[in-house]
This record gives sequence, C-alpha cells and structure tokens, in this order.
Amino acid sequence: MNIQKFQLIYAHIICFKDDPSQVGDKALTDYKTGALIIDDKGKITWVGDKANLPNKYKQVPSTNFGKKYLMAGFIDTHLHYPQYRMLAAPAKNLMDWLNRFTFKEEALYGDIDHASQAAELFLDFLLAHGTTSAMAFSSVHKQAANCLFEATDKRNMAFITGKTMMDRNAPENILDDPEQGALDSQSLIDKWHGKGRQRYAITPRFAITSSDAQLKLSGQLYKNNPSCYLQTHLSESLEEINMVKDLFPKAKDYTDVYDHFGILGKNSFFGHGIHLSERECQALSASHSKVVHCPTSNMFLGSGLLNIEYLKNASNPVDVSLASDIGGGTNYSMLHTIGEAFKIASYNNVSLSAYQGFYMATLGNAKQLGLENEIGSIKVKNWADFIIIDPEATPVLAARQQLSESLEDALFALAILGDDRAIKATYIAGRCLHNS
Ligand code: GUN
Ligand code: ZN
Repeated sequence: MNIQKFQLIYAHIICFKDDPSQVGDKALTDYKTGALIIDDKGKITWVGDKANLPNKYKQVPSTNFGKKYLMAGFIDTHLHYPQYRMLAAPAKNLMDWLNRFTFKEEALYGDIDHASQAAELFLDFLLAHGTTSAMAFSSVHKQAANCLFEATDKRNMAFITGKTMMDRNAPENILDDPEQGALDSQSLIDKWHGKGRQRYAITPRFAITSSDAQLKLSGQLYKNNPSCYLQTHLSESLEEINMVKDLFPKAKDYTDVYDHFGILGKNSFFGHGIHLSERECQALSASHSKVVHCPTSNMFLGSGLLNIEYLKNASNPVDVSLASDIGGGTNYSMLHTIGEAFKIASYNNVSLSAYQGFYMATLGNAKQLGLENEIGSIKVKNWADFIIIDPEATPVLAARQQLSESLEDALFALAILGDDRAIKATYIAGRCLHNS
C-alpha cells in the first residue's frame, strides 16, 4: 500500500446515520478520539476510533484537529447566487423586496465578468460558513448559470443550480421568453447535468413571474429530464398567494397551479410553503415533493412562521429540508439557520432538538436530495466533504460550553451562538478549500 495516496485526519468525529426524530440518540455515533482515512480520489475509506485504526494506515500523513469537531459539511437546499451580496435589503415584504432591490441586482448578471466574479465570491462565502453543497437559483441569464457551474466544477463541489426562468411581472431586462428559456435550460442540462459533481435544477422562479406557457414548458422539461431537480417558490407570503389567485383563477390553490403543469414530483423543491392547506399538503405528499424551510428569510421578510410539525405530522406528511435562502435569508451560516429554525419551532410549541437540526442541515438534506450515498454523512465510500468546527470559537461560546453537559448541549450552543467564526476548516473531496 502506498501511504502517500491517503491522508489521515484526527478529530472528535460526529457521524449521523439516521434521523434523530425517528430513532433518538441512536441516530449518531461520535468518536471523541476519532480518525478518518481519505483516499486520493477524495472518498472516505475508513472512520472510527483512533484506537481501532488498522495498522496499514498508521503511517499515513496526518493532520490533528484535537478536540475540535469533524462532521459532514452543511448542505443548503435553497439560496440565490445573484443575491450573494444583497443580504439585509430593508423592505416592507416579499414583493416590495423583489421589486425595489432584487430584480435590479439580478440584472447585473447579464454581464459575464460580473457573474463570474460573483460566482467565486459566492462559493468562498459558502465554504467559509461550512456549506459544502447547495441547490442555488442562478439569474435569468444562461451565461451566469454557466459561470456558476464552471466555478463549482473547478472546486469539485457537489452542486445543483439552474438558469431562472421568468417571462412576466418583472423588469424587461431580466425577462426571458418561454421558448428561449426552455432552450437555454436544455442546453445547460446537456452541458452540465451529471458532469463531475454538477447537477441541474429546472428553475421557474415562481407562478407570478412565469406565464402559463412557461410553466407548461417547465413541466415538459422536467418530464424529458427526469433525473434533474426542479426548484421554485410556493406559498411564501399572503400577498403573493392572493396575486397567484388572481393570475390563475381556475386553480384550486397555489399548489394546484404547479400540479396542473406537471411541476410536482420527488425531485421538486418548493421554497417556503408556509401557508399550505391540508389539500395542498396532500398533493405535495402524494407526489413526494419537498418543502424547503427558510427560517431567517421568513422572519426577515415577515412572510410567516412555518410549522414544521404541521407538515411532517399531517395525515399526509410532507418532506421538509432546511435552507438559508440567501439573500432573503440573513445569514449564510447553517448553524445560525438551525438556531432560527429552533426559535420558529418554539413559537409553534414544537421542540426542535440540536441533533434534529444538525441532522436536517447534513444527512437530512442529503436524503431529501437523494444524495445520501455521496454526501451529508461521514461514511465509507462517501465524498470526504467535511468541516472542522471549534465549539469554543468565540469568548461567549467558550464560556457557554463550560456548562455543556453533553454533545447535544454543545451543538445546541453552536446553533444558537455560532456562525462562520466556528468553522475552522472546510474540505471538499479531501482537499482543504478554506481554513481560518
Ligand atoms: N419568490 C420569488 N423570488 C424570490 C426570491 O428571490 N426570494 C424569495 N425569498 N422569494 C421569492
Ligand atoms: Zn428563494
């Protein structure tokens, strides 16, 4: 065995294997004196306690992170690359925010130099916050989506994006038309879907900015490319829901608009889903569609407080993933996102445990994407996409951790008090792409 082909990492390794809301503490194993072996392809070859490390790996070149935590990198299932720098835009509500700030900012992505520079900065921000994979909206411009794919491919990140389709109710300079939007999407699918670790998401922005013709072509694209994802927005604000009612008077409700055009399905990710009726939950559940919970965005834009339990325990349970929704969301950190999800759950008298939150941001999101045998957990044969977390990264965290009585307690403190300062290193396919 050529030991130079491997690397060895020592740390307190946290491995989620299952859903804590189903199996409790058995959902994870942690190795306080853990060891991880990575091969030269960037895959995990061995994980366990240092004491059990097979002899053949003992001389492998190593890095020792001591008591710091090593866990799977975070997966963000909904955010917007052309909004990478427009966090904290003060608006009255969703539609005001879109019209006053967002559409103007996204228009800049018609310039390829701007788009390619932004793609690099966007990915640097994700990695600095410990996010190793994401499903992101690009702008309406085909070339901007191409820039993002080039940047994620260069970093060898598992990444999903797509050109946004929007043909009405926005400024002229960011509209496409149904036919060209579909052609551009198909040519990006042909170029990028399945290339390296890249995958494509068909991306009609939402029912307000897509005509019947565009939604119909989106459904056809999805049908013709069944391994692609589909991402859009659904039932985020009450004003938006009323506008959809006016635009689609024949639909039973907002979900029915998408259902009618063949947009529901197991690879469909609907951002927000705050105000869904039982009937809508039933349609989403029957089609195995996913709702994406975006807590910081929902509070910032005053959209509403999603009740996770209502979706998960409805007579027809709906799958829920977790996301930042940058730039409606106010923080790239999935630590912070877990913390805000906890607060919203509390408001609804639901207790979201730290294990549940960390599971959602890693293995849970990977399972929603159907990628659990590639990313989202520290297990043999998965990609070595992982982060190193310092549970005592700030003076306040260090003081709080003196009171932590368990790993779950320490993780809870990280979710409420942590952010990018707690991320000491981020590895993609075994390569360290960020450290602080
Ligand atoms: N609905 C349509 N577009 C957007 C967007 O960019 N952000 C959010 N939060 N909601 C949307
Ligand atoms: Zn969004």
